[in-house]
Amino acid sequence: MQGRGIERRQLLSLALAAGALPAAGEALARKAQRTPMSLRYPLRLSANENPWGPGPQARAAIVAATDEGCRYGFDFQQRLVEAVAAKEQVDKGQIVVGSGSGELLHMLAFGWCERGQVVCAWPTFNQLMGFAERIGSETKRVPLDAELRHDLPALAAATTPNTSLLYLCNPNNPSGTVIDGPRLRAFCAEMAQRTLVVVDEAYLDLVDAGATESMVDLVRSGANVVVLRTFSKIHGLAGLRVGYALARPDVAAKLRRQQLATPNVLGLAAATASLGDAEFLARTRAALIADRRRITAACDELGLRYAPPQGNFVFFKPGMPVDAFRGKMKEKQIEVGRPFEPLLDWCRVSVGTTEETSVFIEALRGVVRA
Ligand SMILES: Cc1ncc(COP(=O)(O)O)c(C=O)c1O
Repeated sequence: MQGRGIERRQLLSLALAAGALPAAGEALARKAQRTPMSLRYPLRLSANENPWGPGPQARAAIVAATDEGCRYGFDFQQRLVEAVAAKEQVDKGQIVVGSGSGELLHMLAFGWCERGQVVCAWPTFNQLMGFAERIGSETKRVPLDAELRHDLPALAAATTPNTSLLYLCNPNNPSGTVIDGPRLRAFCAEMAQRTLVVVDEAYLDLVDAGATESMVDLVRSGANVVVLRTFSKIHGLAGLRVGYALARPDVAAKLRRQQLATPNVLGLAAATASLGDAEFLARTRAALIADRRRITAACDELGLRYAPPQGNFVFFKPGMPVDAFRGKMKEKQIEVGRPFEPLLDWCRVSVGTTEETSVFIEALRGVVRA
């Protein structure tokens, strides 16, 4: 059994390296080449997943790693850390791998937020704050501005000596808006003198060229800043649960001490392979951005306002309370995002496959014109 497993893995990696698969690897290749599912109802456009994934190389790596399911994932994690270190140009000691960036958000809350206040924009991705509140923290939620962007002066005013952590989500979920790169860098550098600044870059791979920038250079320069990335979005691996944090070595070490579980072998293998799958990443990015534009074009056609979207979702005003809109969409077997207080006349829809986007746009026209 073991011999066969090794042979399979070797065949696969040889085949992938050579760009062609020999006969024994054909079954693996077929699985690896699976195209995205055809329409499956109800359409799930509610959770900002990426249905184009996993990519071909991630699929092949998952199949090849199955035989290693009996092992703990030390070596797999080591390989992912090496790949991330090369990609992000940081030392390995500056990387913390989590079971999704969600786990890292919980770890940050555990490590930094038992006392004091977390400051964040509102609405934003609430995972860190929700967890911090359960362990005794308070949250200062600073409303987004009229364009649904982070209000940096108001966030600065809210960040006091009592602040335990400042959470920034760029692009922001649910609004999809971004903060200009140089402005954000100056802001983070200043705020990092006062508190730990967490920049959640879950959707950064999906921004239009030049719209914003990663804050990883602040981490490299030793600022009190944590950057979070995930394999759940552009890589299409949400169910495999892998994300990572980039931080100063001392911050990374403290963060690592909060960890409760170790990431799983199949997820680690898939994530490492996906990082190297440039063709898949370019293809899925192009498809998601093109379909995002089709959704905003439909909003333009229907006279619906939307925030400029920079993630794999669009936040728009359907012209009725979001609960009513969700009900009408549900009748058409389409699930859209949950309500985001206090913006209860806005709706977040995730960008699905091209076919799913077409179905959504037709449904939207039907509901809005009815
Ligand atoms: C901004 C943001 N950060 C983090 C996450 C968590 O992602 P995961 O735990 O799958 O890495 C999400 C998920 O939707 C998100 O929107």
